Amino acid sequence: MLSEKIQNAINLQINAELYSSYLYVAMAMYFESVDMSGAAKWMNSQAQEELVHADKFMHYVNERGGRVILEAIEKPPVEWKSVLDAFEAALEHERKVSSLINDLVTLAREENDHMSDNFLQWYIAEQVEEEASAGEVVRKLKLIGDSGSGRFMIDNELGQRVFVPAAGSGE
Ligand SMILES: [Fe+2]
Ligand SMILES: [Fe+2]
Repeated sequence: MLSEKIQNAINLQINAELYSSYLYVAMAMYFESVDMSGAAKWMNSQAQEELVHADKFMHYVNERGGRVILEAIEKPPVEWKSVLDAFEAALEHERKVSSLINDLVTLAREENDHMSDNFLQWYIAEQVEEEASAGEVVRKLKLIGDSGSGRFMIDNELGQRVFVPAAGSGE
């Protein structure tokens, strides 16, 4: 059985994962509006991954005899200054999520909840990937600067990303 403290903290994290998905859909729609359909596809895949993250947490809460409480999801921004600006915001957001996951592990340890601690380790590893993939795009976008052909090439590259549910769920 989950302690109330852990249940509440995981419910907050479920909201954070759903917001991440919402934020990335908003970014994908911004990319589409500036004719970066490859970047939009990349971000849409990212949004779907976030739903997998939320889903895993939700099932975990039920498996441990807790209750999932869904709260309202905050409205994400509509516009960014540039594609780079949006990816920098995504990286910043992932860093914030990493610190939330870190705090959850700390709480699980304080509560002596080894099951939650173990469960959360998947998210710890996942956040390493999340920060690395957003960071890689930021670096590439900085390299190409204002180059139109560079922008064209990176959009093509980002468009290669395909959402694979099994990889996202880690199962
Ligand atoms: Fe996530
Ligand atoms: Fe993420």
